Amino acid sequence: MDKKIKKIGVLTSGGDAPGMNAAIRAVVRTGIYYGLEVYGILRGYAGMIENDIIKMESRSVANIIQRGGTILKTGRCDEFFDYEGRKKAYNNLKKPGIDGLVIIGGDGSFRGAQIFSNEFDIPCIGLPGTIDKDIAGTDFTIGFDTAVNTAVEAIDKIRDTAEAHDRLFIIEVMGRDAGYIALHSGIATGAENILIPERKTVIEDVITAIAEKERRQKMVNLIVVAEGEEFGGAYEVAKVIKERLPEQEVRVCVLGHIQRGGSPSCFDRLIASRMGYAAVECLVEGKHNVFVGILNNRMHYIPLNEAVKKKQRLSEEWMRIVKILSA
Ligand code: F6P
Repeated sequence: MDKKIKKIGVLTSGGDAPGMNAAIRAVVRTGIYYGLEVYGILRGYAGMIENDIIKMESRSVANIIQRGGTILKTGRCDEFFDYEGRKKAYNNLKKPGIDGLVIIGGDGSFRGAQIFSNEFDIPCIGLPGTIDKDIAGTDFTIGFDTAVNTAVEAIDKIRDTAEAHDRLFIIEVMGRDAGYIALHSGIATGAENILIPERKTVIEDVITAIAEKERRQKMVNLIVVAEGEEFGGAYEVAKVIKERLPEQEVRVCVLGHIQRGGSPSCFDRLIASRMGYAAVECLVEGKHNVFVGILNNRMHYIPLNEAVKKKQRLSEEWMRIVKILSA
């Protein structure tokens, strides 16, 4: 029989994502509802190692559901990937008697959680918090919807000026290893081409498509590029286009970290609240080392180790849609 959990810790780890606060709020308040003590661990795994742990009450999470960033702060922590670091972290959790953890972060954070829970007897529940949407087992991750909407708003503005000057714009969005922000925002803004890390960039095809559109006098050209695209990002793509099509007026806009900030969308607040609530229910029911996602609008639970192994599969059909609709 599993012993009953009494005290839980919650932390945010990796890149921040809008909606993390809504998830923290849900974990804290659901925990208190079930009679648990809830502790906030600051700065991700670094706070666990350095004993930066605070007791949280219902009021600690008042007025945060609408705020971007994370009140617990976040970071990437190399020390947690050493056994000694994890041992320190475990000893610090034992001081207040924390016997369950909720980790809100990306796949790197879950990898850390999985190793930690195998070594020390602490159940860990992972919630997908990343703007990149690059985690299997869930249709959406906390922060993705807000980030895409931020990108769409910016690209719409760029389209106005692009049209006024008949210019080609190469817009770089975030996504070191994943092209979902590029794909979603590119389709939603009518981009001519979308370059993503998951697909080989054939620069010849990009140039042929621009030249062909120029012949047809299609003047507004928007190309959306994910930062991790294999050619090297927006500036590199622009350089080659300028060399090959010197007549073409080309401008580059890198959207950068504005995509990570801002008030979370309704959708992100909603999934964060549902996931945070479900994470605590998992711990109360004695589920160990589970990843909580939402598939087809239903809560979906898979073992943490499966979540770290798999990637979301990118639909080839979406690339076909880009091509057909940008005619
Ligand atoms: O993982 C989210 C993400 O925003 C990636 O899209 C991006 O490549 C990376 O984080 C940037 O990280 P940092 O803020 O540490 O430069």
